[in-house]
Amino acid sequence: MSQFATSVSVDPRIIEKLPKFDAPFFQAGLAGYSDAAMRIVAREHGCPFCVTEALLDRILISGGKGRRREDPEFLAKEHEEEACNLQDHPIAGQVIGMEAGEMAEGAAILVEMGYDVIDVNLACPPKRVRRRNRGGYFLSAPSKGIEILEAVREIVPEHIPTTLKLRRGFDDSEESVTNFYRLFDGAVDLNYLWATVHGRSVEQRYNGPSRWEFLTELVKERPEALIFGSGDIMCAEDIFKMMEQTGVHGVSVARGCIGNPWIFAQARAIMEGREPKVPTIQEQRHALLRHFELCTDLHGEQTASRLMRKFGISFSKFHPQSEEVRKEFIGIHSAGEWKRVLDTYYCIS
Ligand SMILES: Cc1cc2nc3c(=O)[nH]c(=O)nc-3n(C[C@H](O)[C@H](O)[C@H](O)COP(=O)(O)O)c2cc1C
Repeated sequence: MSQFATSVSVDPRIIEKLPKFDAPFFQAGLAGYSDAAMRIVAREHGCPFCVTEALLDRILISGGKGRRREDPEFLAKEHEEEACNLQDHPIAGQVIGMEAGEMAEGAAILVEMGYDVIDVNLACPPKRVRRRNRGGYFLSAPSKGIEILEAVREIVPEHIPTTLKLRRGFDDSEESVTNFYRLFDGAVDLNYLWATVHGRSVEQRYNGPSRWEFLTELVKERPEALIFGSGDIMCAEDIFKMMEQTGVHGVSVARGCIGNPWIFAQARAIMEGREPKVPTIQEQRHALLRHFELCTDLHGEQTASRLMRKFGISFSKFHPQSEEVRKEFIGIHSAGEWKRVLDTYYCIS
C-alpha cells in the first residue's frame, strides 16, 4: 500500500469554478504531444483536467493551420454516436506570444472556441535558432509580462478563469527571483485563479532537477495563492510526494504521462487508499489502439502513423520485451505496420 494514501483534495476555489476538476492533478501542455487524442486517452484513464500545448497567438489570429483541430469539440463532432464520452472538458487553452495586444486577441479566440480556462504561457524557453521574445523571455522582462497578464484578463469574460504558467526564474540570479515574484504577484492581483510553477529556470531548459525547494519557499511566502507544481513528476507517487514536500495545491503531470495514461488511474487509486495497478498487456493494447484511432480521426491515417511512433516508443517501456517492441515502433510508417506490431506483441492473453 502506498505511503501517500488519503487526505488530498481539490481546493474549493477550483471546484467552485470547475466542478469536474475533482482530483489535484492535471495533464500539462506538451508541445507536439498533448493534442485532443492524448487528452481524451488521459481523461479515459482518470485525468480530470487538461491544458493544450502552447498555441501561438498569431496563428490563432490568422486562423492558421490546425486551428480547427484545436476545437475542443472536434473529436466529439467526428464521433457523434459517442460524443458524450469524448468531451474534452474541462480544458485550458494555453496562449503564447510576444505582445500584449496580440496575446489578448489570441485569448479571445480561445474563449470563442469554447475553452473553459485561458492559460498564459510565460514559461517556455524561446527557440534557440530564431530567438523570439516569447514565453519564458518575460521572466527577464516582467513589466511587459504584466502588460500581457492585464490585457488577457481584460478581454476574457469574468466568468472564465485565467491562469498562468511560469518557471522559477529566467536564470539563477537574485534579480530573476524578484522578477518571478513580480509576475506571480501581478497574476494574483489580477485575480488569476492559479499559477503553475515549473521548478526549473528558463536557461536550465530541461537539464538538471526541478527545484522543489523553490516551490516550498513560494508556498510559505504566498500562503493564500493557489499553486500547482511542475517538474520531475515521473510516476503517480511523485504527485503526492510533491504535494507533501512543498505544500502546493496540486501537480501538473508532463513527461510522466507520455505513453503512460495509467499514471492518472494510479493517482486516483492512491487517493482512494487502493493499491495502484500496473497495466496488463491487454490494457496496453487497448490504450494504444484507442490513441491510434483518435489520432487518425484528428490527423488522418498517414500523419497518425508518423505521430504515433513517439507514443509507441514511450508505451513500449511497459512491455516485457520493451527493447524489441521499441525498435518495432521506431520503424513504423503505416497503419498496417502499426496493426502488425500490436498483433505480434500485444495479443498475449
Ligand atoms: C516535449 C515538451 C513539450 C512541452 N510543451 C509545453 C507547452 O506547450 N506548454 C507548457 O506550459 N509547458 C510545456 N512543457 C513543459 C511541461 O509542461 C512541464 O512544465 C515540464 O516538462 C516539467 O515537468 P516534468 O519534468 O515532470 O516533465 C513541455 C515539456 C516537454 C518535455
